[in-house]
Amino acid sequence: MSTWANLGLQDSASPLMEQLIFFHDHALLILVMITVLVGYLMFMLFFNNYVNRFLLHGQLIEMIWTILPAIILLFIALPSLRLLYLLDEINEPSVTLKSIGHQWYWSYEYSDFNNIEFDSYMIPTNELTTDGFRLLDVDNRVILPMNSQTRILVTAADVIHSWTVPALGVKVDGTPGRLNQTNFFINRPGLFYGQCSEICGANHSFMPIVIESVPVNHFIKWISSNNS
Ligand code: CUA
Repeated sequence: MSTWANLGLQDSASPLMEQLIFFHDHALLILVMITVLVGYLMFMLFFNNYVNRFLLHGQLIEMIWTILPAIILLFIALPSLRLLYLLDEINEPSVTLKSIGHQWYWSYEYSDFNNIEFDSYMIPTNELTTDGFRLLDVDNRVILPMNSQTRILVTAADVIHSWTVPALGVKVDGTPGRLNQTNFFINRPGLFYGQCSEICGANHSFMPIVIESVPVNHFIKWISSNNS
């Protein structure tokens, strides 16, 4: 999770988030190079007195400064497209989780195991224990097995919500009447926090997501102890 003064991206917990971080760093590097070059050129304009009264056109230079930026943009566009298709790839998921956004809580369904379903509410500040995280912890966590391809189906019951967990690189809108799908692969155990990221009403800030990533045998134990 994000803690004080962490203004960058969170540590990744999935290969897709790792790729997203690589792409972010790549794009940022290109951005810095362009900013430095343009900044230097603009700054230097203040200090030159070159005047050419007969300069009306320059076909060559215009060709160069049109094509060159286009090529630079390709270096962002092609990896971006690769990542986009990578994020949408479904790799034979072994678990499917359905999450439904409500005003203002999430409810979850594990349809392929005993039809487990439960609501997940934020723990209010006055009921928080000393080790709890304010506005982030929930009463019922989403338990998921690590090292398994997981599919998530997102929808909503009232207004648009968005199921967002930064460490997993997942952000899917839950829209009433539609079922959105994405998938991820959690590669370490731990707690991963997320929040709704679609402005969905007065208590939008108070419908967090907590993923508890556990070893597969622990997950199976949890699933079989839940005969609801
Ligand atoms: Cu649900 Cu914002």
